[in-house]
Amino acid sequence: MNDFMWECRTRVRFGQGCVKSCLEEMVDEFCAKGQNIMIAYGGGSVKQNGAYDDVEEVLKSMGYSHEGNADDGHRIVEFPGIMSNPTLKKMREGAELASSNNVGLIIGIGGGSVMDCSKAIAVQAGYEGDAWEDFWMQGLPMTHEIIPCGVVVTMPATGSEVNGCAVLTNENTKIKCDRDYPEMNPCFALMDPAYTLTMPIRQLKAGTFDILSHIMETYFSFPVEDNPADDVSEGLMRGLIRDFRIAVKEPDNLQARSNIMWTASLAENRIIKTGKTKDFQAHNMEHQLSAYTDCNHGEGLAVLHPVYYRHICRDGEAKFAKFAERVWGLNPEEYTDEAGLAAAGIEALADFINEMGLPTSLRELGFGEDEHRLLPEISGSCFISEGAFRALDAAEILQIYEECW
Ligand code: NZQ
Ligand code: ZN
Repeated sequence: MNDFMWECRTRVRFGQGCVKSCLEEMVDEFCAKGQNIMIAYGGGSVKQNGAYDDVEEVLKSMGYSHEGNADDGHRIVEFPGIMSNPTLKKMREGAELASSNNVGLIIGIGGGSVMDCSKAIAVQAGYEGDAWEDFWMQGLPMTHEIIPCGVVVTMPATGSEVNGCAVLTNENTKIKCDRDYPEMNPCFALMDPAYTLTMPIRQLKAGTFDILSHIMETYFSFPVEDNPADDVSEGLMRGLIRDFRIAVKEPDNLQARSNIMWTASLAENRIIKTGKTKDFQAHNMEHQLSAYTDCNHGEGLAVLHPVYYRHICRDGEAKFAKFAERVWGLNPEEYTDEAGLAAAGIEALADFINEMGLPTSLRELGFGEDEHRLLPEISGSCFISEGAFRALDAAEILQIYEECW
């Protein structure tokens, strides 16, 4: 096993009604007296699923209100309109608002986009330099004081609620980039699975595939020998596949929704990453497709994964064979050799993507001829993973994109 360090700084409270029962305690602990609270959210879904109302009710009961001025220390500062695939511009706008309004706690309410943007706002608002340049681009250590940021999750997918990652898109340079700093972990995550029931089925599918992708991106990396992290991953993948099928058939099944929500966190609280080199090349390829076209993250991954894995299957054959047997239940005796079993596991994944009704080509993602012409440029802009079974180059990434067409 490789050496590792592990920590997760986020306090999690999971279950129906957890905002009403736990938010006050979190605010008391993390928001300094005399400072205001920013609530950040997206396009308005939080006002339909009850999350916004629950947060507002608790804050009002504690004496916070929308009225008053910045010096009061009891104000709720609103920051709505965080878009999917949040931009650097939006993050800077939020940071400016937080800095000029004496904000002592940011509460992001929503999915990965809102959580990521809120976490990044917390980093930039307390920083005199350019956080994008110093932390996202250069990866410098984060030593300045960061505004505490807590989250209320309404969509399970990214696991942003329990990691130190925030993915932003620089709309000028067309770079979509993530970084994982322990300092950027939310101070708390309140997870009420009932909020997720309003998710459109398309988002449910995309988000759940993103979770599976996070586990696979970690599992398919070194070491390939059996180890506790991969044992956990195999169990999580089997359970997620089961719950994915149930949730698609019965969208109101709260048990399946709850399982999916917690699996998203278990996939990203770094426990399955312990001692693993971590691939995330499919993510790197998807992020750049998204930077250029604003496509949906989980759907982009569904298109890319089988094609990418066919490319690297021989480089991690033993692990792909274990995946076939332990995750998809294929019988090794029915295959003449390990290579055949490994390839069959990847086809089982492709069949599952089809079965769940996820897109399987770039055209299904909405790409047209204009986007097709951009593929050489996009492939040249992708980060190359250092933890993969084999490092790709731009030419092979282009080939993968073309095979996804
Ligand atoms: O804008 P609102 O109104 O909130 O609607 C959102 C959005 O339209 C909607 N939604 C969320 N919860 C809902 C709901 N609609 C109805 N009912 C609910 N309960 O869903 C849409 C998509 O939300 P978004 O937050 O964009 O989705 P997701 O959670 O998939 O986040 C995607 C972003 O996270 C990044 C992606 O690249 C992308 O930018 N990622 C972040 C990671 C991390 N922090 O660790 C890792 C991931 O690999 C990923 O890269
Ligand atoms: Zn992802």
